[in-house]
Amino acid sequence: MAKTRLACLLTLLSTHCYFNVLAVVLRTSDESPWTNEFDKIELSCLIESISTTNPRIEWKKITNGGPSYVYFDRKVSGDLENRAVIREPATLLITNATRSDTAKYRCEVTAADDLKSFDEIVINLIVRVKPVVPKCSVPKSVPFGKSAELSCVEDEGFPKSQYQWFKNNEEIPDDPKTSLKFTNSSYTLNADTGTLKFIAVRKEDGGDYFCRAKNDAGFSQCPAQLMEVYDIDVLGIALGVLVVVIVLLCITVGICCAYKRGFFSSEKQTGNNYKVPAKGDGVDYVRTEDEGDFRHKSSFVI
Ligand SMILES: *[C@@H]1O[C@H](CO)[C@@H](O)[C@H](O)[C@H]1NC(C)=O
Ligand SMILES: *[C@@H]1O[C@H](CO)[C@@H](O)[C@H](O)[C@H]1NC(C)=O
Repeated sequence: MAKTRLACLLTLLSTHCYFNVLAVVLRTSDESPWTNEFDKIELSCLIESISTTNPRIEWKKITNGGPSYVYFDRKVSGDLENRAVIREPATLLITNATRSDTAKYRCEVTAADDLKSFDEIVINLIVRVKPVVPKCSVPKSVPFGKSAELSCVEDEGFPKSQYQWFKNNEEIPDDPKTSLKFTNSSYTLNADTGTLKFIAVRKEDGGDYFCRAKNDAGFSQCPAQLMEVYDIDVLGIALGVLVVVIVLLCITVGICCAYKRGFFSSEKQTGNNYKVPAKGDGVDYVRTEDEGDFRHKSSFVI
């Protein structure tokens, strides 16, 4: 009984050792590395065990379109050509990462002389891109009590930007109720879309506003723009309307009177007569003078 057990144990140990010696085994120091755009980054592929002296090493980039070669036949190829090198034993070093390098990469090592002759590991690379200056829109002036919407957009950043709004250089909290200063303000702030919406602006909401787009790679912001809140002057508007109505009324009355007195038809005649003054039509001249008098009178009445 004990003998068979020992035998079993020995067999297990030996097979384990055997595979350990004659198997290619890969390891990585970082499965999901990240870097900022235009920096270097190492995709680590370490050979933990191998007996083949000259293994075949390949790297593939795996995107939605399927895998494509990055390193094949001892050469870096594809769009990483001139931007990457292999560092012993099988690590891929990207010297100047771009945003299009964000992908999964597979390190594959084939060791012909090993019993387990193949191993692979997948590395998930993220290249972060700093946001560019966002496009900000702030209404110049908003009537008191009306709604207002401020927007901020930026599309370059990766991962996708989050947005912060600042008023007079002070960050606006996501929820106005959490701040003594903003507690009476009626806004809602969406950090994902960059929209700052006021349901009804107060005098205190006026000020210099700017927005900041940020992600893990950094941030960018737009210059501050002034939003003014003005009172709608009800009395002023009423007065203005009254003046306009009076003026319109006067004009209408004036035109009516002119029609009744045949002003327009006689003007046509005088117009004709002015073109032929050489004929010296005395009667018409008199009429014209009448006309002038009439005009005087009517404007005087108004
Ligand atoms: C990296 O690439 C960008 C764009 O291709 C280039 O402007 C930049 O100078 C490069 N940086 C280095 C360190 O080579
Ligand atoms: C908010 O409104 C309340 C009630 O109208 C007022 O007492 C308080 O002073 C206001 N707070 C601020 C910061 O304006």
